[in-house]
Amino acid sequence: MSAQSDPRESVGERVFVVGAGIMGSGIAAQAALAGYFVTLEDVTAELADRGKANAERALDHQLRKGLLDSARREEAARRIDAAIGLRRASSATIIVEAAPENLEIKQGLFREIESAAAVDAVLATNTSSLPITSIAQVLQDPTRLIGIHFFNPVLQMPLVELIPGLRTRPEIAERAERFAKKLGKTVVHSKDSPGFVTTRALAVLINEAAGMLQEGVATRDDIDTAYRLGFHHPMGPFELADLVGIDTAVAILDVLWDGFRDTKYRVCPLLRQMVAAGRLGRKSGEGFYPYPDRRSGT
Ligand SMILES: NC(=O)c1ccc[n+]([C@@H]2O[C@H](COP(=O)([O-])OP(=O)(O)OC[C@H]3O[C@@H](n4cnc5c(N)ncnc54)[C@H](O)[C@@H]3O)[C@@H](O)[C@H]2O)c1
Repeated sequence: MSAQSDPRESVGERVFVVGAGIMGSGIAAQAALAGYFVTLEDVTAELADRGKANAERALDHQLRKGLLDSARREEAARRIDAAIGLRRASSATIIVEAAPENLEIKQGLFREIESAAAVDAVLATNTSSLPITSIAQVLQDPTRLIGIHFFNPVLQMPLVELIPGLRTRPEIAERAERFAKKLGKTVVHSKDSPGFVTTRALAVLINEAAGMLQEGVATRDDIDTAYRLGFHHPMGPFELADLVGIDTAVAILDVLWDGFRDTKYRVCPLLRQMVAAGRLGRKSGEGFYPYPDRRSGT
């Protein structure tokens, strides 16, 4: 199980995570469990602190499920610190970016990350869909960037998709793979194609389900039940969309549209409307379903 990887392997090494949202907090928790020291960074102290609190919540979940004992939980929590700014990135051997799914944001961030990072640090993006080669293009050394795509919730999902860009050095890919395996993940490899192997099909499923709901083909609950019981999916497409974040799902579909210009990736208007209304899923307290206990954003 991912939560049980050996902490001794990574003693002393630091992982710097940029973006303390849903994914950044999960990646921080997973890396801390594997023995890394982790800095979790965001644009404000409040967001960084909230990310750390969410990382601890994820550890608590593993504790309740009996996958972790309280000593390891405490030890992992102590290894995570929250920060604003990239100052501490210079001591990291690997930097994982988990900021919003937007090419300009990620390119801007990687320009800053490259100048803050040690020259031999691996630079990784957790993008779900954006071309790794395009993100890397803004770097002075584009050969050091790779996609390490974690899944949500990070502590519970055993998969990592590894996506080298066109110019990524093999040594960087090897180090990224070792890192993912130290975190207890199973690695699949994908070429740098929009949406890679996983997100491309997932985005279409969510979009098609939203289309059916908008057309009145079936209710939200019946569509989710149909996919859970009919196809053995652990959650229906709307439950999944709420977990992913509706804004993220829309951003991904836009990337697929830009990449392929195929109408099958045209965003269902209902999804855009939900983003405009701030109904982003679990993280905003309401998506296709309400999440009253999440309204504070924690
Ligand atoms: N949500 C998922 O299920 C999922 C799964 C796999 C991959 N991803 C990818 O992971 C990335 C993050 O997604 P998320 O769901 O965690 O998003 P999120 O909205 O929960 O978190 C993004 C965080 O980045 C922060 N941020 C914005 N600009 C920043 C900056 N300049 N510097 C530092 N932090 C900044 C935001 O304040 C926010 O806390 C995206 O690329 C997304 O596609 C998401």
